[in-house]
Amino acid sequence: MTKFKTLDDLGDLTGKVALVRVDLNLPMQDAHVTDDTRVRASAPTILELAEKGAKVLLLAHFGRPKGERVSTMSVSMTLDAVQAVLGKEVMFVPEIAGPVVEQAVGILRPGDIAMLENTRFWKGEEKNDPDLAKAIAANGDIYVNDAFSAAHRAHVSTEGLAHLLPAYAGRSMEAELKALEAALGTPVRPVCAVVGGAKVSSKLDVLTHLVTQVDHLIIGGGMANTFLAARGVNVGKSLCEHDLAATAEKILDTAEQSGCTVHLPYDVVVAKEFAAHPASLRTCNVHEVSADEMILDVGPAAVEALADVLKTCRTLVWNGPLGAFETPPFDAATVALARSAAALSKEGVLTSVAGGGDTVAALNHAGVAADFTYISTAGGAFLEWMEGKALPGVVALER
Ligand code: 3PG
Repeated sequence: MTKFKTLDDLGDLTGKVALVRVDLNLPMQDAHVTDDTRVRASAPTILELAEKGAKVLLLAHFGRPKGERVSTMSVSMTLDAVQAVLGKEVMFVPEIAGPVVEQAVGILRPGDIAMLENTRFWKGEEKNDPDLAKAIAANGDIYVNDAFSAAHRAHVSTEGLAHLLPAYAGRSMEAELKALEAALGTPVRPVCAVVGGAKVSSKLDVLTHLVTQVDHLIIGGGMANTFLAARGVNVGKSLCEHDLAATAEKILDTAEQSGCTVHLPYDVVVAKEFAAHPASLRTCNVHEVSADEMILDVGPAAVEALADVLKTCRTLVWNGPLGAFETPPFDAATVALARSAAALSKEGVLTSVAGGGDTVAALNHAGVAADFTYISTAGGAFLEWMEGKALPGVVALER
């Protein structure tokens, strides 16, 4: 038995109202959704509930309107994208509770879907206000949370409602929790984590937690420079948080005590200016970076060695690129290591889970996202999970 009730625990729902928390915080450009991944992730849940005969009410936030009605942050901006993915008409309701929602429920037939307004237009949402929770719950029979990516928020729509109605994990939430459990909960060892990105300061808690959990930690991106500098390497004019040298040392000490091998690059790709294919581009040993150069990617010899590390591992958690991957050729290390991880995953010898911020973009860029075992759509929630924090939206679903 899983820790959570899922849609498998539900029978016929004809005429019942399912309040379904989804994540419609979608990237937009010129009022158009540019990436509907999160809608596609929740579509199976929404359609399954509709097929079981429920009247489905979607709850979501969009942006950070801070308790005010901001027309540009109406969740209705996503309506076309949602209808396109679901292949069904979705009624938009400009409220989240009260008589307008009640009326909408009266109009909906079993299997129909409605989208309620941005939950964050109401001040009570982010305060997890019990009165707002009661008012929303009054129009529902069950609560389904399918928004792992918002589960780090203890808000009415992500946490409060789970205490007032029979609560279920949606299919996407269920898959996410299963993958994360396989990656860091009860993983098959050895476990390797890849953590990249610009700054150590933004991932201090992630690194501190991971060194106590994993067997190998591969550090890439700008944050590797901070670790190299802490070890006395001259990183030239690379992005580096010199003031965090002591913190980096402490993380390395904890790793050693915990039996975690930390891998830092020993060859690097450097240039005098940060531009695509700069004239000053060269690959060198980390100890040969000159004062006017900056490290922009992990070098090919290190990547080869890291691919060998991956071959010895059975589980991989990946967050963040290894170099300045948006600007070629500084995408080379990320692409190469991602391809190695993807190939091992495809062979079935590695369980690979990736997520957070730039990571999905980096893996898509490498053309390997489909071969990873699981790619999370979450940003902040994935990082908090990597920090070992309990996520309120997940905890509230536990039986
Ligand atoms: C996200 O986009 O990562 C989630 O929807 C959470 O949004 P938030 O950071 O505004 O809470």
